[in-house]
Amino acid sequence: MTMLNPNIPEAVRAVASDGTKLRYAMMELAKQFPDVIALGRGDPDLDTPAHIVEAAKQAMRDQRTGLTPVAGLPELRDAIAHNLRTRNGLPVERDNIIVTTGGQEGIFLIMQALLDPGDEVLVPDPRYTSYDDSILRAGGKMVMVPTYPEDAFDLRAEAVEAAITPRTKALLIVTPSNPTGGILTEASAKAIADVAIRHNIIVISDEIYGRFVFDGWKHVSIGSLPGMAERTITLDGFSKTYAMTGWRVGFVAAPANLIDAMTTIKTLTTGPVASVSQWASVAAATGPDEVVQDFYRIYDERRAIMKNGLGEMGFDIGDARGGFFIWPNSSSTGIHATELSYLVLQEARVLVFPGAGFGQGWDSFLRVTVLAPTDQLREAVERMRPVIAKYRG
Ligand SMILES: Cc1ncc(COP(=O)(O)O)c(C=O)c1O
Repeated sequence: MTMLNPNIPEAVRAVASDGTKLRYAMMELAKQFPDVIALGRGDPDLDTPAHIVEAAKQAMRDQRTGLTPVAGLPELRDAIAHNLRTRNGLPVERDNIIVTTGGQEGIFLIMQALLDPGDEVLVPDPRYTSYDDSILRAGGKMVMVPTYPEDAFDLRAEAVEAAITPRTKALLIVTPSNPTGGILTEASAKAIADVAIRHNIIVISDEIYGRFVFDGWKHVSIGSLPGMAERTITLDGFSKTYAMTGWRVGFVAAPANLIDAMTTIKTLTTGPVASVSQWASVAAATGPDEVVQDFYRIYDERRAIMKNGLGEMGFDIGDARGGFFIWPNSSSTGIHATELSYLVLQEARVLVFPGAGFGQGWDSFLRVTVLAPTDQLREAVERMRPVIAKYRG
């Protein structure tokens, strides 16, 4: 791939090799341009369903606003456990659940509770780089496990096994993946479970996009496989499933001793999640599932628009099977993806993230979300088309 063009702004160049900072720099830059269509950040643009909002209002009217137990409202932990049992096949009860301040806090608590200094965590490459700091601050070390476009970024059990050392404590799985949209297939899940059991490794399974798996593929929770419940930590939340990012409610399911350790740490930091948000989440978890199915259909329609549009521009769009992202290979343009993202922002006023925002060596990929209404997605395609054609030369 070509070098990063010296004409792109210093604010972006300075952080070009730091995934999280690069994404934030792109978002800052986007503020300078009027009328930007933001297909960068992974926050749902849809409204939180009305019955969930109403449940929060009712909790306020009833003054159900005091502190809850640190691990979460019993009603919410029970509802989450019930859904994980019935939908994901995880054998969990209330004491296997902690409610966290978004999935993000869940990630931090998991690493703090699990890792000792020098422990290695296997991380699929490319990755959601927000994991990095939580692993590193807990004294852990990241060891990359490659994933490949030709497998639609499924995780290969052989690649996992090849990365294991005597210091390996845990394997991280993100399914569907941020940024690739790859999913862990059932065959891979079984093969990886076998590796984890043989090598006595803990699996951290981030399933925050798990309700959005498309094209006939099936979401698999690795913790539901034989022998895996006692070694799996499952992370999920309300942000993506119910369009509730700002309510800050996530959860972790794990063996009870780990939940206790995480609860102790949470006591020292944020304490319990805001009670009103938790009551809203009870309504989400126990309410009609049609709201999620409606979201699913909306995202699926949007994916088709974006995939067609990017394909027509000449990108190899790959095979994103789940989540909110498309991860096109932009190497046919011959332009470094960080520069290409900048040009697309400047000239098409569309914000997409460069592949370098998700790890080294991904300079020829873009991450494009489907988190805008269909008319805006069509508009984004129309704006990008001439810009890409111009630079394709
Ligand atoms: C893979 C993954 N895990 C966890 C999170 C955390 O989400 P939240 O803190 O909004 O629940 C995100 C957010 O983008 C994510 O992409």
